[in-house]
Amino acid sequence: MITKIYKVNDLKKDSKYIEKAIEYLKNDDLVAIPTETVYGLGANGLSEEACKKIFETKGRPQDNPLILHLSKVDELERLVKEIPEDIEKLMKELWPGPLTLVFYKSELVPSIVTAGGNTVAIRIPNNNITRNIIEKAGIPIAAPSANLSGRPSPTTADDVYIDLNGKIPLIIDGGQSNIGIESTVLDITEKPYTILRPGFFDKEDLEVYLDEVLYDTSLVKDDVVPRSPGQKYKHYAPKAKMEVIIGDGNSIKSYIDEYKENKNEEKVAYILFDENKYLLKEEDIFLSLGSKDNLIEMAYNLFKNLRQADKLNVDKIICEGTDEYGIGIGIMNRLKKSSAGNIRRI
Ligand code: TXA
Ligand code: MG
Repeated sequence: MITKIYKVNDLKKDSKYIEKAIEYLKNDDLVAIPTETVYGLGANGLSEEACKKIFETKGRPQDNPLILHLSKVDELERLVKEIPEDIEKLMKELWPGPLTLVFYKSELVPSIVTAGGNTVAIRIPNNNITRNIIEKAGIPIAAPSANLSGRPSPTTADDVYIDLNGKIPLIIDGGQSNIGIESTVLDITEKPYTILRPGFFDKEDLEVYLDEVLYDTSLVKDDVVPRSPGQKYKHYAPKAKMEVIIGDGNSIKSYIDEYKENKNEEKVAYILFDENKYLLKEEDIFLSLGSKDNLIEMAYNLFKNLRQADKLNVDKIICEGTDEYGIGIGIMNRLKKSSAGNIRRI
């Protein structure tokens, strides 16, 4: 199969590409679509057959349910059993945006989407191109991140192409995802509402609109099985061995110096904050996380750098981590998985 990439700059001028995407989706074929978090691998969310292709193409475990993407709140009602009154404000303020809500599902939602369960995850992405496709197609679009299972999530059309070239007919290129990590997943089927996957929004952001929000205990404790199936698998992993270090400039300097003395035969990518770039030599591979004071930049650069390190064929990645507050909780959730738990406070 030949994989085409259509760059959409303008909804009107490039409407022929939007039409093409809709044609594929209605025909139960897969189309990669841009969102503000990461690229999604889209399929007709009401079609068993189309969604089956998502699992096959990604090599995704069968028990990991999919998120349905909508273009506006009106499309929600027919997909869920009920809409709790106390989330109306939350939906109004944070959608479109990087928030996924888990509802009890209606009969209309195929069981492949929910991995056989009675709940369905739903979000309205903050991306005009993708919302336009969904609205015009008139169907919810099921979309996991558009990477092969286990790999870092894709934040550009090129990232998607590297993983899925030859496996899907079309990638819609909408430029780089401006957030860079996936949505916060909030289960609203039971009270207290629970964050199953941390993302752009943290607990406090949601508590502006809701009474009490908890983190799923698996996010806080290491030995608890997560309630969100996707959280238990190996994830976001670059090809190289990866180590995450958290510390001040001095301790990072001694760590890197010592590392170089002992393991100087390895090709290493250093993914560091700009403030620590001066610790490296000209010949070292430096990939920037942006400024230490801006975790939004860190999220934006994270998967991009892991994929860049893969392109450079390094043996080892040494990546700075962050304290866990705000979006830092979501970032560290991804880094724990990318590094298979190889995190050191130094
Ligand atoms: O930002 C995002 O959420 C991106 C973009 C493309 O929208 N999508 C994404 O999808 O990250 P995926 O499939 O890579 O991750 C979906 C997460 C998984 O952890 C999955 O287990 C969880 O959401 N999930 C989906 N449906 C669920 C449900 N009914 N109950 C609990 N967790 C669910
Ligand atoms: Mg994913």
